[in-house]
Amino acid sequence: MRNASTVRAEALCYAVAEREIFADVSFDVPSQTSLAVTGPSGTGKTTLILCLAGILPLADGRVWINGQELTSLSPRTRSALRLRSVGLVYQFGELLPKLTPLENVTLPALLDSAPRRASYERGKTLLHDLGVGELADAATATLSGGERQRVAVARALITRPGVILADEPTGSLDSASGQVVSDLLFDLPRRYGCALIVVTHNDRVAARGSAACSRRGSPHRDVGG
Ligand SMILES: Nc1ncnc2c1ncn2[C@@H]1O[C@H](COP(=O)(O)OP(=O)(O)O)[C@@H](O)[C@H]1O
Ligand SMILES: [Mg+2]
Repeated sequence: MRNASTVRAEALCYAVAEREIFADVSFDVPSQTSLAVTGPSGTGKTTLILCLAGILPLADGRVWINGQELTSLSPRTRSALRLRSVGLVYQFGELLPKLTPLENVTLPALLDSAPRRASYERGKTLLHDLGVGELADAATATLSGGERQRVAVARALITRPGVILADEPTGSLDSASGQVVSDLLFDLPRRYGCALIVVTHNDRVAARGSAACSRRGSPHRDVGG
């Protein structure tokens, strides 16, 4: 059990059909700090995020989330830890179009059996804090890419996770909206006390991480330090 940091990765390795995608990736991302990992398309960034979330199994290595070793847990306990402790942000927002933005944001809390009314209140507060409060009851399909990503960030924060993982969060946005979403994301560790890990092929976004990452035999470039 390690409590010193919010996300710790030790010697992570991933291979597909004996092809090494990444090897010996290690980092320590304490609360209130961020790590940005970059590399061209196909170098394993999404795979890394899915491994950190406990969705894909690593070939080797260990991951601790809030001091709990994710890699030693049963699939059921791992899912519960992910639901409570990890917020995920994807490239396209990935909102459910039939639910309103507020319903999208509140859903993870309701799935975790949190009280309904308090969850909706927190959802509203988060949308407001992220600058899209007036869109709470809008038709989700009418939102712009940048608005969608803000809603996705609110959804990632609803369970008060210690860790936010973002996969190409600005990848589908124009440069102005991308800048806004990137500012907002890299402000989360300070505002909400979480740890943030962003994977991106965008050098401007990647230059913003504060923690360091080490790795061997991988085409990635490390950013941060
Ligand atoms: N399930 C899979 N089966 C075979 N190859 C895969 C699978 N998942 C990922 N890969 C390969 O792993 C590499 C890394 O993919 P990915 O993590 O999506 O990269 P990135 O996010 O950096 O673009 C790619 O070469 C991809 O083709
Ligand atoms: Mg990817």
